[in-house]
Order: sequence, then C-alpha cells, then structure tokens
Amino acid sequence: MSRPEGETLLELRGLRTYFPLHSGPLRRLSGWLKAVDDVSFAIRRGETFGLVGESGCGKTTLGRSILRLERPQAGEILFEGEDILAAGGTRLTTIRRDIQAIFQDTHGSLDPRMNLRSLIGEGLAIQGVGRAERDARVEQLIEVVGLRREHLDRYAHEFSGGQRQRIGIARALATRPKFIVADEPVSALDLSVQSQVLNLLSDLQKEFGLTYLFIAHDLSVVEYLSDRVGVMYLGRLVELASAEDLYADPRMPYTQALLSAVPGSERMTGRPRILLTGDVPSPITPPSGCPFRTRCWMARDICASARPELREVEPNHWAACHFADEARAKAA
Ligand SMILES: Nc1ncnc2c1ncn2[C@@H]1O[C@H](COP(=O)(O)OP(=O)(O)O)[C@@H](O)[C@H]1O
Ligand SMILES: [Mg+2]
Repeated sequence: MSRPEGETLLELRGLRTYFPLHSGPLRRLSGWLKAVDDVSFAIRRGETFGLVGESGCGKTTLGRSILRLERPQAGEILFEGEDILAAGGTRLTTIRRDIQAIFQDTHGSLDPRMNLRSLIGEGLAIQGVGRAERDARVEQLIEVVGLRREHLDRYAHEFSGGQRQRIGIARALATRPKFIVADEPVSALDLSVQSQVLNLLSDLQKEFGLTYLFIAHDLSVVEYLSDRVGVMYLGRLVELASAEDLYADPRMPYTQALLSAVPGSERMTGRPRILLTGDVPSPITPPSGCPFRTRCWMARDICASARPELREVEPNHWAACHFADEARAKAA
C-alpha cells in the first residue's frame, strides 16, 4: 500500500503537549507531565498514517491536539500549510469542518436523547445548514455507512456496537472533511465487526479522498490499513517508516518487542520472541537519555547519557536508537 512521496496535508513541528502537575495544600505548579514531547512528522494527502504504542504513550493527546481539544505548550500544527494553533475566525470554522474525529465507541459517546436523524445531522445544524438540505444529506450518509433509513427515528441505545460506530463515522463525514483523526475506532468492537468497520473506513477513504491519522494499540489492525506507521514511546516518536518496512525490518528494539507480541505474528517466526518486561516508566519522571533504555535488552552506558535523535537509518525509515543497525542484525 505504500505510496510514493505526495503532497503534505498535515505537519507537526516540534509539538509539545504538557499537562501541569500541582502539589501541596496550595496546589502549586510542581512540574509537567510531558504527554507529547517534541514530535515532528508529516502526513500526506490521501494516506493513512498509523500511530501505535502502548497505552499512556501520548497517542490520544497528540490526536486531541490536532483537534484543538488540548492546548500544546509549543510547536506547530500545519494544515494545508497554515498553523491551526494560531487560527481564528473564519479560518477556524473551516478547520473545524475539514478536520473531524472518530473515537472509540463508548456507550456515553452518543447522546441517548437524540435519534439517528439528529445525531448525524447535528454537525450540519451547528453549521447552519437548513432542515431540508440536512435531511437529504443525512439520508445519503446513512447509505454511505451502511445503515438503514428505517432506523432514522431510533435512539443510540437501540443500536449494536458496530452500528454505533457507523453512526460515529457518518457524524464525522457530515461536514465533508479532508482529514480524520480515528482514535482506536475499532478497539471496543468484536473481531468480526472490526473488519467490517475497517473495510468501510478503507472504502470511504477511496470514495472521498480522505486522509487518516489512525491511532491504535493493535499492530495487526494498523498494518492492514496504514501506508506509513509511527511508533510512540513516552511522548516521543521513536520510529517511522512505511508499514511494509516497519513490519519487515523494525529498527527500534521497542518496535521489535511490540511486533513480537502480536499473536501468531508470522513475520517474526525465526526471530526470538521478545517479552517486554516492566511497566512503562512514569512520564512525569522519564528516564534520562533514551526513554526506552530501562526496558531495553540492548541498553549500554550511552543510552542513559545521550538521547538518540530520530535519524534516517535507511531512505524513508527513521529510528531513534543508538544501535539501530545492530538491532537489525540481532533481529534478523
Ligand atoms: N487531561 C489530562 N490531564 C493529565 N494527564 C493526562 C491527561 N490526559 C492524558 N494524560 C496523561 O498523558 C499521558 C498520555 O496519555 P494518552 O495521550 O491518553 O495516551 P494513549 O492514548 O497513548 O494511551 C498519560 O500519562 C496520561 O495519564
Ligand atoms: Mg488513547
């Protein structure tokens, strides 16, 4: 699926999204939790960029920063070349229409007092689209996502998990967006339903020329859909490559461990199975040097004293590891 160089649609430059920590009786500012720490990468128009990493590594915070649901401390988010963090007025209205989200289905995510018609039409109503046009568009969207018109007057709780996720997708599509942040969109669904929803996302991408940031902790799901994949660890981007290269030749020990944990992972046969031991360290007090060194079987002195920069270890394949070349030899 990997695509040649294309035009950049969205670019993160040195993005830092920190949460303030307070302590003591006066709740004074005592430090920062660096949920996203100096992350830079670009997403091309029409591609699916997968973002993976263990829970707590900052994927959702990164997605929410793009959606302007979190306020980054520093950095830029360029959408079609303009910084969306600095946008206001009509530019902001346009961005809110162009960038939409699909979240993990939770029972609380759809308002139980709204029927299907108003759930899907809500975004259009907010944008001031009139009743007749809204109804026509809603009926069209229902077909696009594989729901039925007879269901228009039903309420959210009357739908299955897979159907609710289709409603979420229709809501996201209502404003004809260009870019969609899909944060664990199938993680709450049964396996059989997962593939239906993934196929739908893939079809919609072709039909409407969408660009996705696809966030997931399940690497097999990401591989299926993604053109390129970024791996995060403790707020940092530690590897970035085409899905093909990343899965065939992971250069960062952390990525190797993640891949090795995928059940029945065929590509890892012949390679020693790597067990990730220990928990992810606290992002409040991350390790010095390489954030992964406390769990890495290849760590040496330099890993504690110097942070490995994300560097191009092969054309279009980036890894943040002092021993990316050696890591490869060991895994092969
Ligand atoms: N609103 C918040 N306030 C304080 N800390 C937060 C907040 N949201 C997330 N975090 C912390 O930021 C880190 C990254 O979280 P998150 O982005 O949800 O990771 P992921 O989506 O990869 O599981 C975690 O340590 C989490 O506890
Ligand atoms: Mg998350």
